[in-house]
Amino acid sequence: MVAFPQLRLRRLRQTKMLRALVQENRVETGDLIYPIFVEEGSGIKQEIASMPGVYQLSVDQLPHEVEEVAKLGIPAVLLFGIPQQKDEVGSAAYHPKGVIQQAIRIIKKSVPELLVVTDVCLCEYTSHGHCGIVVNGYVDNDQTLPLLSKTALSHAEAGTDIVAPSDMMDGRVRAIRKTLDGEGFQNIPILSYAAKYASAFYSPFREAVESVPQFGDRRSYQMDPSNVREALREVEQDISEGADIIMVKPALAYLDVIRRVRDTFNYPLAAFNVSGEYAMVKAAAQRGWLDERQIVLEILTAIKRAGADIIITYHAKDVSRWLRVI
Ligand code: PBG
Ligand code: ZN
Repeated sequence: MVAFPQLRLRRLRQTKMLRALVQENRVETGDLIYPIFVEEGSGIKQEIASMPGVYQLSVDQLPHEVEEVAKLGIPAVLLFGIPQQKDEVGSAAYHPKGVIQQAIRIIKKSVPELLVVTDVCLCEYTSHGHCGIVVNGYVDNDQTLPLLSKTALSHAEAGTDIVAPSDMMDGRVRAIRKTLDGEGFQNIPILSYAAKYASAFYSPFREAVESVPQFGDRRSYQMDPSNVREALREVEQDISEGADIIMVKPALAYLDVIRRVRDTFNYPLAAFNVSGEYAMVKAAAQRGWLDERQIVLEILTAIKRAGADIIITYHAKDVSRWLRVI
């Protein structure tokens, strides 16, 4: 085997061009999905305190926003809704004129080619803040499934391109697939939040959509951060139920999970660079403690290196600008 001094690994690091030529992983704007928080009402553009640069936007603000996203070359947005009314069964999630249903229609009208991905869950719409129906203080799996299916169907009817269930109920991918197929939506893909952990990194998001659980926590349905074999079983289950794209969430503290899923399954894999990961970078950058641009690109490169094909990130607009000027 060749060794030093014949072998010099620094030879290929001498210039920018040479480094680019041998680069193994690259972050591309075309891999990114930009999340948007849509609030019912009009004239609203309210910055989220723990997520500088990210806003709650009312439906009328969306055309302007998505035109910008599309111009930057970002292929998709992921929608989260903030309804005016919440109730025990999250009826605003599947109301035909709900905030997300309105948002889908207006986005598809203003920028038809932009992919709309819609988060399918009940927690933004339930008064108790849980992702499913609560029966005797416990989130009931089977009673939640028809409501998730109804929600996904109402998104499809409004014109969404991809549905993304994030609730972590067992059997929801099958239930949603069956409902969509039964109503003629067999071509709408399901991006399932397959391995979603009960993480403290979601707290800025819960502030953004006002979905902090009113009692208990989400540990009876989201995964224990200690487990990785279980993540493979979750992914296997969702694939067997008909998921088209699978997701690991959060990303940074779970890069090993992304790698294991990548090596085990030949499905498109998304990773969610979640709100708390965004907030940490922003807080440090605002203090001048870190270089935001370099840190973000390094983080997203790590997520790709771990094996993700798609990255959902609040940094997407900034990243697309940075990648342009490089
Ligand atoms: C809803 C949902 C959450 C996120 C995406 N969909 C929050 C949660 O499960 O509590 C988190 C996104 C983020 O933190 O950026 N089920
Ligand atoms: Zn939820």
